Amino acid sequence: MANAGSAEYVMAIDQGTTSTRAIIVDRSARVVSSGQLEHRQLFPRAGWVEHDAVEIWNSVREAVGIALSRAELSPHDIAAVGVTNQRETAVVWNRLTGRPVYNAIVWQDTRTQSIVDRLAGEAGVDRYKQIVGLPLATYFAGPKVAWILENVDGCREAAEAGELLFGTIDSWLLWNLTGGRDGGVHVTDVTNASRTLLMDLDTLSWREDIAAELGIPLSMLPSIRSSSEVYGTCSENGMLPGVPIAGILGDQQAAMFGQACFDEGMAKNTYGTGNFVLLNTGTKRVDSANGLLTTVCYQLGSAAPVYALEGSIAVTGSLVQWLRDNLGLINEASDIERLALSVDDNGGAYFVPAFSGLFAPHWRQDARGALLGLTRFVNRAHIARAALEATAFQTREVMEAMNADAGVELAELRVDGGMVANELLMQFQADQLGVDVIRPRVTETTALGAAFAAGIAIGFWKGTQEVADTWAEDARWSPTMPDGERDRLYRNWKKAVTKTMGWVD
Ligand code: G3P
Repeated sequence: MANAGSAEYVMAIDQGTTSTRAIIVDRSARVVSSGQLEHRQLFPRAGWVEHDAVEIWNSVREAVGIALSRAELSPHDIAAVGVTNQRETAVVWNRLTGRPVYNAIVWQDTRTQSIVDRLAGEAGVDRYKQIVGLPLATYFAGPKVAWILENVDGCREAAEAGELLFGTIDSWLLWNLTGGRDGGVHVTDVTNASRTLLMDLDTLSWREDIAAELGIPLSMLPSIRSSSEVYGTCSENGMLPGVPIAGILGDQQAAMFGQACFDEGMAKNTYGTGNFVLLNTGTKRVDSANGLLTTVCYQLGSAAPVYALEGSIAVTGSLVQWLRDNLGLINEASDIERLALSVDDNGGAYFVPAFSGLFAPHWRQDARGALLGLTRFVNRAHIARAALEATAFQTREVMEAMNADAGVELAELRVDGGMVANELLMQFQADQLGVDVIRPRVTETTALGAAFAAGIAIGFWKGTQEVADTWAEDARWSPTMPDGERDRLYRNWKKAVTKTMGWVD
């Protein structure tokens, strides 16, 4: 049995869109070991994106084993585990067999458009925005559950008989970690629940009326808990016998935590599969008039929840993967910087990667990707450059929306995620935003945030101030581009965006 008194490390499990990581950190927030595995991306039809939830669970077990063995540690050395996850991805499983009834439907999947249209009806996509903070969109988990119940044989009856459970990836992992069919706990945290379209942002409880509209029995839903408390202990037969699970945060909220954005007005941008800019708005929720989401940032035990405004961008890093996997333009994702640097500019090309429609601030499900401004001059290096610039332009769009909603201009932006190693992108980002872009010493902010939430819950760290003290700046990019050039590029980008809208009837 693990012992918080003598155990000197905290583990975080970070189950992301493309891979699963387990990291082990010490008291000074130093990452002492990690394990990482990729899982398959399934694209059964245009617009559909699925994961195999069992493969994901197995990847977690393996990553945990790798992290422990690399550090030559045993479960006794781990004081607590925190879980962070790709958000909105929906899993429905049978509580009696422990098997998912269908693949996990991933956040990028657009198959639920007709369900979303049906719900929006005459009232429009903002029908529930006042309650849940979100517009109706295929992005969120609720309609994905409705799709499974409507389309997978036998599910409706099994759900009504109380046999099926729904969870975002955090819940699926918690249930399995704590014993599955043998007493697994069925919980989620406020941050993940705030991405379902089913949780009331003020009361932090499920909305029976919205669940009923979607045909989702309440018995399927996990209990909503804070982001930092002991939910249960890992099963005696698993990889981490007896270790308490004490933190759950959606991955973007975990990155806020790992970036120590604990004060109102602090913001971060994570460059992952997509980009996600979050602004801490303190204990009051701010409703967006500019296409942003209102979401829970975190809640520590019984303390008041902290809210955030969020600009979610569906496709940024996954565009680089697409150039690698679907076009063969580069061999490794990291090759894109060298290719882009071989030309002076984008050569007039603009790439709008609306592969899942456009998320914030447009919320246009009818948009699809486009490459515009092409002439015979444009070559593969210009396209690489246009792909990187698309990330920075999209970030500028959501930052402008954020400034308008918050009524104050952000003074700087903390950044993390895989693409922040790309210096060309970081400089262009600072140029486009007109503010400093700051990369921390530890860029594993997502996993770190989950570790912090778990460690705080069991007293491993005293509170947010102690973990904030571990944050340190590593690099900073300041704007250097002349205003005229900066604005000319952005004007062209905005024109390109308008061309992608209305493509899907
Ligand atoms: O909302 C989706 C987001 O949580 C996915 O993040 O890092 O797994 O691409 P990531």
